[in-house]
Amino acid sequence: MTLAPLFAARLIAWQETHGRHGLPWQVSDAYRVWLSEIMLQQTQVSTVLGYYERFLARFPDLATLAAAPADDVLAHWSGLGYYSRARNLHKAAQRVVSDFGGVFPDQRVAMESLPGIGRSTAAAIAAFAFGRRETILDGNVKRVLTRCFGIDGYPGDKAVEARLWTLAESLLPADNTQMVAYTQGLMDLGATVCGRSKPACARCPMQDGCIAARDGRTAELPVRKPKKEVPQRETVMLIALHQGRVLLERRPPVGIWGGLLSLPQFDSTLAVADWLAANGDGELLPVWPDLLHVFTHFRLTITPQCVPLQRLTATHCADDSRIWLPLAEALDAGVPAPVRKLLLQALQGSAGLPLD
Ligand code: ADE
Ligand code: SF4
Repeated sequence: MTLAPLFAARLIAWQETHGRHGLPWQVSDAYRVWLSEIMLQQTQVSTVLGYYERFLARFPDLATLAAAPADDVLAHWSGLGYYSRARNLHKAAQRVVSDFGGVFPDQRVAMESLPGIGRSTAAAIAAFAFGRRETILDGNVKRVLTRCFGIDGYPGDKAVEARLWTLAESLLPADNTQMVAYTQGLMDLGATVCGRSKPACARCPMQDGCIAARDGRTAELPVRKPKKEVPQRETVMLIALHQGRVLLERRPPVGIWGGLLSLPQFDSTLAVADWLAANGDGELLPVWPDLLHVFTHFRLTITPQCVPLQRLTATHCADDSRIWLPLAEALDAGVPAPVRKLLLQALQGSAGLPLD
């Protein structure tokens, strides 16, 4: 069953019986519709009701708003938050006076030229106030559409969003006279039935054609914003032990663990073997389990390579930046957390205790 040809008729029928009616901004005065859409952008209906009424009592029409001092406008927004909405509303009212002869434009594209009015808000005003065949596409609508039509991909992604606009436009009713019920229905379905966490599919007019409901994917759709890929880095840490001492190295002053004493690091266990051949006489123990250390900008996988040395063949393996310290002293030397963990393991191991 394909839902698309039935979508508008079902939504309109559902809106008439189950949608929200009697809201004070369900009128055809563009100024009132506009004001409500701006207030409702980031604020829920129950909160908006009182603010809407008080705002209109003070600024009953667009000309009054345009002529009012900015502070007065902000005072009537006080408590609603997102104050750029109020500043834009005021600026837009002044622009309507200066550029549109004081008459709120009746075309979606003209509305979009005003401060604070994006494409979806413009479409809502155009549909509600002028019966224009324009589609809204806010977060609620994106949720309904991605679920109904099984749209994968993050809706904030440009390509996915473009596809959703095209889909939303294709679903509009043919008849302009139904645009108010249709647009309100889209908002109401997303707000009251197809909610974010537990959509009430059993009482949804789209249920028998909805892809997400059919495939049990309502929890997966819409696809959430992908997490930023944090780069992965790898390092081998050398735990060189000799007569109860461990070899530590001073980190460069800048960068991760800047200036701290730490274990010498190598790019690979092979590089550790080379170091051993040049500096001593001992064996590479099997590596201990990797440690994962998470920094803000990357994740570091640490492969610990323990090397008990019977004999030091080179005296230069301790120099200005590398020193041999007794294990207990090394633990007190202010080393990075994963290094401390490795030193504790080494201490347990050298005491003949099992590692972890
Ligand atoms: N949210 C945004 N516009 C709305 C409207 N007209 N009715 C209810 N909630 C809304
Ligand atoms: Fe949303 Fe469920 Fe309706 Fe599909 S059937 S649109 S998931 S409420």
